[in-house]
Amino acid sequence: MTYSRIAGTGSHLPEKVLTNHDLERMVDTSDQWIVERTGIRRRHLAAAGQTTCDLAEQAARRAMEAAAVRPADIDLVIVATTTPDRVFPSTACLLQARLELGDCPAFDVQAVCTGFVYALDVANRFIQTGGARCALVVGAETMSRIVDWSDRSTCILFGDGAGAVILRASDEPGIVSTHLHADGRYQHLLTTDGGVSDPPPGGNPHIRMSGNEVFRVAVNTLGAIVDETLAANGLEQGSVDWLVPHQANIRIIRATARKLGLPMERVIVTIEEQGNTSAASIPLALDTAVRDGRIRRGETLLLEAFGGGFTWGSALLVY
Ligand code: UT7
Repeated sequence: MTYSRIAGTGSHLPEKVLTNHDLERMVDTSDQWIVERTGIRRRHLAAAGQTTCDLAEQAARRAMEAAAVRPADIDLVIVATTTPDRVFPSTACLLQARLELGDCPAFDVQAVCTGFVYALDVANRFIQTGGARCALVVGAETMSRIVDWSDRSTCILFGDGAGAVILRASDEPGIVSTHLHADGRYQHLLTTDGGVSDPPPGGNPHIRMSGNEVFRVAVNTLGAIVDETLAANGLEQGSVDWLVPHQANIRIIRATARKLGLPMERVIVTIEEQGNTSAASIPLALDTAVRDGRIRRGETLLLEAFGGGFTWGSALLVY
């Protein structure tokens, strides 16, 4: 059997930092409220002119270096993003040219905060069916471009960044199971107020969210996907080494960890420093914990995410 193994990880955060105290000067909020309700203290923001592809490029170069792969080795590029540089070409095509990868399939995946899990699943299927042997999978976002900086209920949440993995075909596990879901009936609870074919009233689209309702569905849905993933693999609660969750809210992360039977010491949390970076948050968290030595070869990781759509999903893998 052919598995997809993570051969290397990389990430990149833009230099500029926006603290909760900075936000206190912009909208009617407080550091205390933001920390208590979300767990966020700071987030990084792209500079003017710095694009999603710029962030993706840095993350991808680090992942390639960590995996010791050359541009010619890569035969598939998938970028998960909600905030592409352009309507087209895809950010994956822009990245492919930047990295001088040559001819290989390159495309974007749009599943908002679940985008990286979707992209990982798709790349895994390419590798398992022989369509690719070495895939670059990236989650990259400039969410700050679609944040309404006058809306205190959302502007405190989001940040920019990118994370990447190199997946290689291997006889050893690898990704052992993936579980993807979507339910478009919830589209109105977490959305933008327009787009390309349905333009927003004031120019650029902005995030609109019914936070409390999203929160409740997220906790229940992520609890259910933990059960689904454990059952599909015949695993007990507490048998996974690490939870690498999407970083939307520390309270959601704690609830999911409880469901998984893991103490918070076995959960990778980056939300305090990075906020919610949508599709970038899981590969950013993964790279952080790989580089600081917490996640080691042979350990079992559960990746999970929930986001606009609604979309949700998980990946269970041996690192
Ligand atoms: O990544 C994709 C998935 N996204 C998520 O999973 C996000 C899910 N939602 C959340 O994380 C939380 O719902 C939020 C952090 C967005 C909000 O926390 P909450 O505990 O659900 O607060 P709430 O929306 O119920 O609002 C409580 C109060 C309201 O005031 P009243 O009506 O009780 O007087 C809000 O107006 O907090 C007020 N509020 C704020 N106060 C200070 C809302 N935003 C702020 C703010 N600062 N930034």
